[in-house]
Amino acid sequence: KKTLNQMLIIFGASGDLTARKLIPAIYNLYKGQHLPENFVVLGVSRSNMGSEEFRSKVVLESEFLQKKIAKEEKDFVQKFADKLYYEDLGTDYDASYEKLAKRINQLDEEHGTDGNLIFYLSTPPSLYETIAKNLHDAGLTKEEKGWRRLIVEKPFGYNLKSAKALNDGLHYYFNEGQVYRIDHYLGKETVQNLLVTRFSNSIFEPLWNRRYIHHVEITNAETVGVEKRGGYYDKSGALRDMFQSHLLQIVSLIVMEPPISSDAEEIRDEKVKALKSLRIMKDEETIIKNTLRGQYVGSTIGGKKVKGYREEEGVNPESTTETFAALKFYVDNWRWKDVPFYVRTGKAMPTKVTEVVIHFKTPHHEVFKSQDVYKKDNKLIIRIQPDEGVLLKFGVKVPGLGFHVEQANMDFYYSDLDSAQVMDAYERLLLDAMQGDTTLYARADEVEAAWRFVDPILECWENNPSVNTYGYAAGTWGPKNSDELIEDSFGWRNPGDL
Ligand code: BG6
Repeated sequence: KKTLNQMLIIFGASGDLTARKLIPAIYNLYKGQHLPENFVVLGVSRSNMGSEEFRSKVVLESEFLQKKIAKEEKDFVQKFADKLYYEDLGTDYDASYEKLAKRINQLDEEHGTDGNLIFYLSTPPSLYETIAKNLHDAGLTKEEKGWRRLIVEKPFGYNLKSAKALNDGLHYYFNEGQVYRIDHYLGKETVQNLLVTRFSNSIFEPLWNRRYIHHVEITNAETVGVEKRGGYYDKSGALRDMFQSHLLQIVSLIVMEPPISSDAEEIRDEKVKALKSLRIMKDEETIIKNTLRGQYVGSTIGGKKVKGYREEEGVNPESTTETFAALKFYVDNWRWKDVPFYVRTGKAMPTKVTEVVIHFKTPHHEVFKSQDVYKKDNKLIIRIQPDEGVLLKFGVKVPGLGFHVEQANMDFYYSDLDSAQVMDAYERLLLDAMQGDTTLYARADEVEAAWRFVDPILECWENNPSVNTYGYAAGTWGPKNSDELIEDSFGWRNPGDL
């Protein structure tokens, strides 16, 4: 695919994401010679600084980039830094966008970026619409000379209503094909590999249905608490922060039907269909039975005291916001009828891990009686992170007398590949947007379908703040009660186990 000359304009350029993720990703693209010949980044925000200061903040003195840069690269790094510019928007809105338009045109002429502009909104979502409108009013959205694209960060909406309003608002100034909604999980190699595992092998897809799959389990755990994002997180919670976006994206890739081709719209059409087939839990009784939430409380891990959620900076000391959520749900379609999906996500857990486990049914007629059938089921474990890879568990005969069955592993690690350079999610996603490929970006109807499923749960939880809410000690696997969500005796898999 070709990457045309272009300018990337980052709003919120003085913020954390720009220094932590975006600039390092662009630097790696530069290093890998993926950037077009003529390319500039224009950082925009309301902090008072000039281009030199911006360059030193996000490149030359940046702790995030310095980690990656070896000493001998200094000249090279300076060349990269020279591609970065900064525009202080000041506080006078109208005048500032006129000034911004002039600056963009001037940079475009100087650097030959052919009038192609990508706007990256790394700002609070409450500003997305205003920025889009201001860009429009300043004549910056018109595709006269080159094209226009708009990348927005999550969260995309707070519920279905606000997501719809945001979609409508943005569509006023940009058409859907120009809008790139980032979900950084889609930038992860292993998440993309879900598609390849399913649709480029003939050994999995024939079994990928209710006849052979007993249940699907997804665990997403982080060791960190809310860190410095207490203010944001307290209004969000695990269901909005992780489940509505990242985890439902993973679910859609597991559930979807084979797309006609790898074309962006074909894949996204199937993902939307998948999300629309999730059985919406309408009444409170069903929600309370099938969902559960938790909040971490202070504890001591390895002799070190760890704060509880309510003691975190920016968090209401009486907050009922969940830092852990577990759900059981079904997918109402031909392929998945009656197959339960179990998903859990939490902060302040024992380890950082995301994995998908496809539990296959035990053979319908047992020839070799085994004591513990559930430990003997075939499992396909897709390790999203860390230790990216795929593990298949199957029964083998224990050497010796009789026919005793034990599980063996077929294990694949990405790190074993020669070309094991796993690209950072932002790198992949930025390059895709630069090339106009929307496959790994969430479409408007996708985001809305995800909210449609989540909305009633949020509402029920809000109406019943203390029902199904449990504390769990920081550094543990969440509330004990989450074990009961899985009725059968197999329970949650201990993630990371071989
Ligand atoms: C973000 C959430 O979208 O994803 C964070 O807002 C979370 O709360 C992060 O920590 C997890 O991402 P990753 O790539 O570290 O699994």
